[in-house]
Amino acid sequence: MNVLVTGGLGYIGSHTCVKLIESGMTPIILDNLSNAKPEVVQRIEHLVGEAPLCYFGDVRDGELLDSIFATHDIDAVIHFAGLKAVGESVIKPLTYYDNNVNGSLVLAKAMRKAGVNSLIFSSSATVYGDPEHVPLTENSPTGAATNPYGRSKHMIEQCFTDLQKSVPTLSITLLRYFNPAGAHPSGNIGEQPNGIPNNLVPYITQVAIGQREALSVFGDDYDTPDGTGVRDYLHVVDLAVGHLKALDKLNVQDGCVAYNLGTGQGYSVLEMVAAFEKASGQQVPYNIAPRRAGDIACC
Ligand code: NAD
Ligand code: UD1
Repeated sequence: MNVLVTGGLGYIGSHTCVKLIESGMTPIILDNLSNAKPEVVQRIEHLVGEAPLCYFGDVRDGELLDSIFATHDIDAVIHFAGLKAVGESVIKPLTYYDNNVNGSLVLAKAMRKAGVNSLIFSSSATVYGDPEHVPLTENSPTGAATNPYGRSKHMIEQCFTDLQKSVPTLSITLLRYFNPAGAHPSGNIGEQPNGIPNNLVPYITQVAIGQREALSVFGDDYDTPDGTGVRDYLHVVDLAVGHLKALDKLNVQDGCVAYNLGTGQGYSVLEMVAAFEKASGQQVPYNIAPRRAGDIACC
């Protein structure tokens, strides 16, 4: 099975490509390197014994997509490519809508042209906004995202839902991830964002290895047991396996279907710091900082 993996050199994409190859499938990666390094190709090769085919290009480049679909007999697409920094999305909303929404539309048009019917989309629990009740289920209300990044994900979900209604032969899965964490057990691939990490776990990691002085804990006055934000952290390899399960289901389910990918169990920022210290034996100095714009108490 040939799977076009947009954003396949990124954090979740690279772990998913490893699982795809281990399961006998062939990922064909398209990545513009905006948040990944080209050496991830060799790192994947080191893990599985073969280098995935990779196009260094942009998902908004319709001509490039047409030529990829013409060259390879693509069975399904996993669409990871997107920008994901919540704070940056508040400052640069158009960049986010262009990259995420426009990128998804260009991809969908190219898939229609090429007659490729199966799509898995990287959505996010952010589409639920600031929830009234937790744990969230797939039937919880969506659409009240608190920032442009989250709204871009919700818009794409709506576009794909409408598209699938108009073309019933399409099989589309929306995977709403909670908070991926961790790395491949080999340590050969993991989360290696360009620049200062926006997310908690890579930031803690860089503090633990002495690359950064201290973690800023964004707010300790939330309505949570210790006042810091609570999230559902799931292991990135489990998340990667979730994509293989979604591929299995694509052709046996009808319509455009959403699945939450999480554990149902939340942990606070301070619990994450304590767990990291216990597992690594390293101290993680931290200070309490103001709340981050667009953040919520519990997801
Ligand atoms: P990531 O930044 O590590 O990976 C995204 C990859 O897409 C990067 O390699 C980047 O270079 C590439 N890319 C971005 N824009 C592109 C474009 N226009 N054309 C081609 N390539 C492009 O992020 P990730 O954590 O692996 O996330 C993957 C997807 O999952 C994203 O869509 C993200 O919004 C979504 N998601 C992530 C999280 C999370 O916490 N990591 C949670 C929910 C949803
Ligand atoms: C956010 C988005 C999520 C998106 C993900 C990827 C929301 C509600 N969530 O996740 O949809 O896919 O980013 O970028 O919009 N924290 C600190 N210090 C730090 C970093 C984070 O205290 O330096 C805290 C945050 O305030 C939060 C928790 O750690 O309480 C997790 O933050 P983060 O890892 O950025 O993920 P989310 O904000 O949950």
